[in-house]
Amino acid sequence: MSYKAKFKVWRGDAGEGSLEDYGVEVNEGEVVLDIIHRLQATQAPDMAVRWNCKAGKCGSCSAEVNGVPRLMCMTRMSTFTEDETITVTPLRTFPVIRDLVTDVSFNYTKAREVASFEPPAELKPGDYRMAQVDVERSQEFRKCIECFLCQNTCHAVRDHEDNKDHFAGPRFLMRVAELDMHPLDTRERRNEAQEDHGLGFCNITKCCTEVCPEHIKITDNALIPMKERVADRKYDPLVWLGNKIARR
Ligand code: SF4
Ligand code: F3S
Ligand code: FES
Repeated sequence: MSYKAKFKVWRGDAGEGSLEDYGVEVNEGEVVLDIIHRLQATQAPDMAVRWNCKAGKCGSCSAEVNGVPRLMCMTRMSTFTEDETITVTPLRTFPVIRDLVTDVSFNYTKAREVASFEPPAELKPGDYRMAQVDVERSQEFRKCIECFLCQNTCHAVRDHEDNKDHFAGPRFLMRVAELDMHPLDTRERRNEAQEDHGLGFCNITKCCTEVCPEHIKITDNALIPMKERVADRKYDPLVWLGNKIARR
């Protein structure tokens, strides 16, 4: 059964923009991205939207639907009532390029700031051996599709543009935690997490976890354990003594 839905879609560019009203057909089983595509096909051929897989796996179609950060391809129209107005806006934390497309290069910069995996020097690729039990915890983090919904949601950058230089955001703090938990990684990452990637900005509000389409427990399984590892190191009496001597 089809019906006509009321949509408001943000149209504009880096300079200015506004919400535009549309009435558009919806068919059974459709998702928000289908409706945006129908708008492109019938009423707004120049509407910019980024998407790729339409299967919740490429992480491209992130936007805010009725103010909630979501993947448009995984947001079923059946979650809304037929008389509801559905508002689709671009991710708020990143600069708009045009319409629903934002410039997410902040995230690529943050990704580059995390030092890559450092295995023991004597091991060659192919010689890495580890027990499943030692990698189980960090395997969850590999499900990340880099949709950046968590990065968009975290209030530490969403409401504080000036923190962007000093805070990697949940996705990349999770990457630091993943490497720190890796049984073969030799790099000392706990200081870096705190000093370079701004772990202290996270006050564990868990908003990042709530929006993750892969249901990764970012806060409980990556950020809180990372905070505990940083605290262990800081308050370890031997480390404390070592730091004191080094400072002399
Ligand atoms: Fe998206 Fe989840 Fe990865 Fe964040 S952790 S970028 S919300 S998949
Ligand atoms: Fe931000 Fe997630 Fe921490 S939303 S404050 S990174 S728990
Ligand atoms: Fe790939 Fe939505 S189009 S996640």
